[in-house]
Amino acid sequence: MTFARAFAPATVANIGVGFDILGLAVQGTGDRVEVEFRDEPGARILSIEGDGGRLPREADKNTASVAAQAVLDTIGAQRGVGIRLYKDLPINSGLGSSAASAVAAAVAVNALFGSPLKKEALLPACMEGEACVSGYHADNVGPSLLGGITLITGTDVSQIYHMPVPEALYLALVTPAVDVPTAQARAVLPKSISLRDMVAQTGGVARLVDALYRGDIAAMGMAMEADCVVEPARAHLMPYLMEVRTAAKRAGACGLVISGAGPTLCAVCESDAIALACSVAMKAVYDDRDIASRVQQTQVDRTGARVQLYE
Ligand code: HSE
Repeated sequence: MTFARAFAPATVANIGVGFDILGLAVQGTGDRVEVEFRDEPGARILSIEGDGGRLPREADKNTASVAAQAVLDTIGAQRGVGIRLYKDLPINSGLGSSAASAVAAAVAVNALFGSPLKKEALLPACMEGEACVSGYHADNVGPSLLGGITLITGTDVSQIYHMPVPEALYLALVTPAVDVPTAQARAVLPKSISLRDMVAQTGGVARLVDALYRGDIAAMGMAMEADCVVEPARAHLMPYLMEVRTAAKRAGACGLVISGAGPTLCAVCESDAIALACSVAMKAVYDDRDIASRVQQTQVDRTGARVQLYE
């Protein structure tokens, strides 16, 4: 095998109340990475398409090459790899763009070397890549790598918990054309919170996990909006958050939260038809204010990253 290619899906991190510990993978959109052997050691970026020239090409600054290097180190590779990154996800959009690149690169490199590591064992390498742009948290890389809805409380396989995915869970996502760098969205967060907020937040996470186990999307919608720490601190970075939430709920959504660090907003719905109506209603809020936006109706991707092709 001389080439390997992998795809890693977009993600909705936090799912509202589960800051840095909960996330879900999104069907239909993601990043792709192709890797090939090089005689020189180490991971190198050969090309990036779809980023408008915005992403770093230096190997130690790009999430894909950092994750690829971490896999090479883990398996003790003697040969290096060249990376071609195809970005389908918008940067700084809250859809886990940097994580998807890291995950696709880690999966592709592992495949190129004959898959010496199990998928779960790639998590630390993926986190290494993600950390170079947005810190050590796995709520994007976890679901992008493993699919489904994941609760991740650490970097070890034993700290990954797969949540049930309700059959009738449909998502409506809207991404306004506004840049919200993750570092900026993390800088506005409080350094400490009150005991009262801690109780409310942990209660919200518990209710969300319970709702997922019962497949109760209405309860899921209410629980995920119980975030009393992160959303209040970030709301000013998300244009017309409250207006979009109101529009989505009028169209039938059970709840709406900021996707990851934003500005994408994610509404949860009980049918495809409701998700479509929500998308239209959410987009109209931005259209009325001359803000360009993209919408998609989708479901949870249960598979996560996959090897696409090798020869
Ligand atoms: N949990 C992260 C955050 C996701 O909200 O900052 C974005 O990397």
